[in-house]
Amino acid sequence: MKEELNFFEAVSQRRSVRVFDQMGTFDGGIVQKCLEAAILSPNSSNLQLYQFVRVPEYSTLKDRLAQLCMGQKAATTARELVVVLTRRDRWKAHAKANFEFISGSASGEGDKKVKLALRYYGKLVPMLYRKFPGWTMMKELIALAVGLRKLMVWEVSETAVRISVHKSASLASMTFMLAMKASGYDTCPMEGFDSKRVKKLLKLPVGSEIAMIIACGKGLPEGIYGERFRVPTSELIVVK
Ligand SMILES: Cc1cc2nc3c(=O)[nH]c(=O)nc-3n(C[C@H](O)[C@H](O)[C@H](O)COP(=O)(O)O)c2cc1C
Repeated sequence: MKEELNFFEAVSQRRSVRVFDQMGTFDGGIVQKCLEAAILSPNSSNLQLYQFVRVPEYSTLKDRLAQLCMGQKAATTARELVVVLTRRDRWKAHAKANFEFISGSASGEGDKKVKLALRYYGKLVPMLYRKFPGWTMMKELIALAVGLRKLMVWEVSETAVRISVHKSASLASMTFMLAMKASGYDTCPMEGFDSKRVKKLLKLPVGSEIAMIIACGKGLPEGIYGERFRVPTSELIVVK
């Protein structure tokens, strides 16, 4: 494999590639390395509520999964498919892991860091993530009561929590795709798939959602469907 690209080379050379080479070798070790880089991405409250499910070409599930991606060529020719899941359901275990990590690195019982962590992971996170009927409405009422008097993060509803976990999963996905490009491989993120059937095929946890499925491989020139287009920069970047 040739030398790794630097950051800006990887950003500018990355494209969504829809046809992958079937002949050359494909190193699954690179996928693993790039996923390990991806989990260093920023994520909300460091709760890491996502999971990457690897489906390599030798998996008996790969062909069926590619068909469930609406038979898209990116999926059928991919050498590996990576299913990016949100794992909102893991909040309690991950909050505990964060709390224990912070407690373990503290200098003593009275350490301010521990007190803050206890409050954050012991009180605020459960307030936001716990689920029971009527809780979203109660959270919104609490937000209103607090927000009328002082600064408040208003995004507390169940929808807001879902968006938040998808944001974190997507940021990790982006790191993965750039790492793959830097390592000489191409990707195509896909949201065109039958989520219900994919969940059934891969026996995914009930509480998970599929953020996207990423096709991976060495792209062929015909896999790039057109010149890159972006609307004017001035529309996407504004200064106030
Ligand atoms: C969340 C998301 C879902 C996407 N879904 C698909 C898809 O199902 N099939 C596909 O061919 N491309 C898909 N794409 C790729 C976009 O079409 C592509 O990123 C866009 O056209 C810009 O092109 P570029 O990635 O080559 O710069 C998706 C991209 C994102 C971010």
